[in-house]
Amino acid sequence: MKKILLAGLCALMMGALPSRAQWGPRAIPEPTDGLKDAYKDYFMVGVAVNNRNVTDADQIKLIKREFNSITAENAMKPQPTEPRKGECNWEDADRIADFCRQNGIKLRGHTLMWHSQIGPWMYQDENGNLLSKEELYANMKHHIQAVVNRYKDVVYCWDVVNEAVADSPVYPGRPELRESPMYKIAGEEFIYKAFEFAHEADPKALLFYNDYNDAEPAKSQRIYNLVKRMKDAGVPVDGIGMQGHYNVYGPSMADVDAAIKLYSQVVKHIHITELDIRINEDMGGGLRFNQGQAQVSDWERTLQQDQYVNLFKVLRKHKDVIDCVTFWNVSDRDSWLGANNYPLLFDSNYKPKQSYLAVKGFDPKMDNVVVKEDFKPSELNQPGQEYPMVNSQGYARFRVNAPKANSVIVSLGLGGSGGTVLHKDADGFWTGTTAGPMDEGFHYYHLTIDGGVFNDPGTENFYGSTRWESGIEIPAHDAAFYAERDVPHGNVQQILFWSASTNQLRKAFVYTPPQYEKNKKKYPVLYLQHGWGENEFAWHVQGHANLIMDNLIADGKIQPFIIVMTYGMTNGVRIGGLGGFNYNDFQTVLCDELVPYVDGHFRTIAKKDSRAMAGLSMGGMETHTITLARPEMFAYYGLLSGGVYTPEEIQDPKQVKGIFIGCGSKEGPDRIMQAAADLQAAGFNAKGYVSEGTAHEFLTWRRCLYEMAPMLFK
Ligand code: XIL
Repeated sequence: MKKILLAGLCALMMGALPSRAQWGPRAIPEPTDGLKDAYKDYFMVGVAVNNRNVTDADQIKLIKREFNSITAENAMKPQPTEPRKGECNWEDADRIADFCRQNGIKLRGHTLMWHSQIGPWMYQDENGNLLSKEELYANMKHHIQAVVNRYKDVVYCWDVVNEAVADSPVYPGRPELRESPMYKIAGEEFIYKAFEFAHEADPKALLFYNDYNDAEPAKSQRIYNLVKRMKDAGVPVDGIGMQGHYNVYGPSMADVDAAIKLYSQVVKHIHITELDIRINEDMGGGLRFNQGQAQVSDWERTLQQDQYVNLFKVLRKHKDVIDCVTFWNVSDRDSWLGANNYPLLFDSNYKPKQSYLAVKGFDPKMDNVVVKEDFKPSELNQPGQEYPMVNSQGYARFRVNAPKANSVIVSLGLGGSGGTVLHKDADGFWTGTTAGPMDEGFHYYHLTIDGGVFNDPGTENFYGSTRWESGIEIPAHDAAFYAERDVPHGNVQQILFWSASTNQLRKAFVYTPPQYEKNKKKYPVLYLQHGWGENEFAWHVQGHANLIMDNLIADGKIQPFIIVMTYGMTNGVRIGGLGGFNYNDFQTVLCDELVPYVDGHFRTIAKKDSRAMAGLSMGGMETHTITLARPEMFAYYGLLSGGVYTPEEIQDPKQVKGIFIGCGSKEGPDRIMQAAADLQAAGFNAKGYVSEGTAHEFLTWRRCLYEMAPMLFK
């Protein structure tokens, strides 16, 4: 029983942590459908394959599940198909074509004319002298038509010419096109000819011009210019292939969007032909290939996921002109960039990454959501600070000054996305808005700047995750119960007590209700524990426990009581090591040192029936253990997102006068409500409570305190 409880709590506690990403990638179950299915209303999703991919049974299964278009990674290029003039080698290309024929998968042809992976015979003689234009065209026609004819039953489009536009910068007096041997012989006309030869062989095939750095503004203008001149000259060009060898730092989505808009002015078809998003800063032209085991940090995964998610959002927006998006390789193991560049949606073991789920699991409704521009500074900001901001829908917007940084990530985000990636403005400020509305209430967060962890200088700090973190408050619709009202207020004072068992001076905060100083009454006491990573500040600072009490008392909903909040000695434990946590030390401090101190220094009713213990998360685990181990100490027990009691484990039903069990609706509340029902059925005075729309966070626990207080000391 105890083991199960601990495991459950560990799972619960994971949710309390500011960034899920910091615990590494989670295992994702094998998908039952694929990217092609998720995108069926948008565009085909393709993949570039090698020989292994189409012969290994597991890889075949994955390809058939995920993709509905295929490109041969190398097998149909000029050199592999015809290394020497007239010596053709079709084996690999045929295998891939047959795979597509047999499985009814569409095949993109790649590529007929390229300066790389081409037999020199195409453009030079045995002595290395460039051929004449006529000889070049004869060779091109012979080669292009042999390939196109051979596969015209199965190939539906061709990347006819690849990478013929010059990279930036183009210096004055230099051509806009790459000075390849073909260009040197024939100028731009060789490109036109290649398209004409291909069209002659297969008039049905869609013909593409394909290139990289396709979203870089200057180069995309040159690509546009080339295709426009071709169109004007009547060349049969149908589409532009944007290779899409991107990285986690760029291109910006504004540039991708602008390039697609530009290209769609001149062609009706745009394909993303070779998509991968590597985690280093290289761009096309000078890539670092990085084989070996992937050594990827969580923040890099977050950047990659963000880039993939935002890219697909832009691609979906342009579904009218984009008809196919092809990944360049199946998995990181196959990637031409090497596994260390971590570029694809499937890892080196062919397992889907979190980014895969994020790309696949888009919500079409969110694509069209309009974020209201009524952002206001968060109420937890430092004096005079504008950011972070929150809008009326619960979106949070951040702005950080880090002019020399390469990446800034806010650890707050949605679901498993691991945060919000900020983007740099022209003025050096990094800004970004959460991808959707946040849950109401308080959230801890921090910034990750180029891999280092920092607080946001805009906000106050709150102790959580074993450090003072930044905090933001998304105003809750029911915030009135902890609002600052003009009612009598109690005090929160710090006390210091000597602990002989730990040989230390220890600290606690004590809430005494309004009028405590003015009367002689004695009060019951609630010992209230924080969660893992937090400390004795949590309940009155993040939790507003004192304000909740003041309001309950002012509204006549409870009889006043004292609350004592001390550090639960929780933070030496690492997550995952909770099972080995020793409760005895804290039990001694609490029961044998703090309780006597409080009874000796405050006007308490120093009896078990007037003493309660409750805690959130790991504080709930402590409460569970200590209340059962020391039945003579407390008469009321409360577990807030901190597990359950069962009737069997409470030895004497008369030892407890009330049990409260609560959690957030996003924490799997069924178990909580079932446990409360079981306790009630066994005759206990038990209350179960679920906080609507909240997770393992402080709004859940504020509400739990508000719901629990009226049942104490009755
Ligand atoms: C790459 C292949 O993936 C590698 O295996 C090969 O060694 C070199 O070519 N742009 C293109 C692709 O159009 O054909 C290239 O493919 C990657 C860059």
